Amino acid sequence: MAITTGPGAKARVAVYPGTFDPITHGHTDLVARAATLFDRVVVAVAESPVKQPGFSLDDRIALARLALADVANVEVRGFSSLLAHFVQEIGAGVIVRGLRAVSDFEYEFQLASMNRHLIPEAETLFLTPAEQYSFISSSLVREIARLGGDVSSFVHPAVQQALRQRWRNSNNNP
Ligand code: COA
Repeated sequence: MAITTGPGAKARVAVYPGTFDPITHGHTDLVARAATLFDRVVVAVAESPVKQPGFSLDDRIALARLALADVANVEVRGFSSLLAHFVQEIGAGVIVRGLRAVSDFEYEFQLASMNRHLIPEAETLFLTPAEQYSFISSSLVREIARLGGDVSSFVHPAVQQALRQRWRNSNNNP
């Protein structure tokens, strides 16, 4: 990645991929950190059919846009292709991923190594979220919300509202 400045310099673009089912404060914390390091950060919401997400791709994109409305130089896009192809398509030089604990490392190492094989010109950069978000995960948030727990300290109010709506609807249509 060329780190040059001035006229004609290449914009430094990073992609932060994930399923974001739904986006949490842990994710937004990471995006805000990445946004200070790059000219543009593209939050790439993966379709991830294998994970059978609780929210549709369109809903996950819309919620991420709402949660990230205050962060400048950030764009949210959905993708259903190979991440390596998406990274090439938008001309990004860096893939950002979060490391919350040692337990994340093995999977992330495998993902980064595979992506390096598929797209050698891109680097994976790991960032750590603020300590108070290091234990959050989207599936825990979904489970707490489903069982009527308070998730207000983990997600944006729009996400909280969407979770509430989702479980209200599913209780009406079991
Ligand atoms: N704060 C809070 N939670 C975080 C977090 C943070 N900073 N960082 C990760 N997480 C959590 C997520 O909430 C999620 O929790 P959950 O599984 O309990 O729901 C978990 O960590 C991991 O999710 P996420 O960061 O969304 O990543 P992912 O593993 O779902 O996504 C992709 C992986 C999308 C990057 C990968 O599958 C991919 O690239 N897919 C596209 C297809 C492809 O190219 N495949 C080949 C890859 S080599």
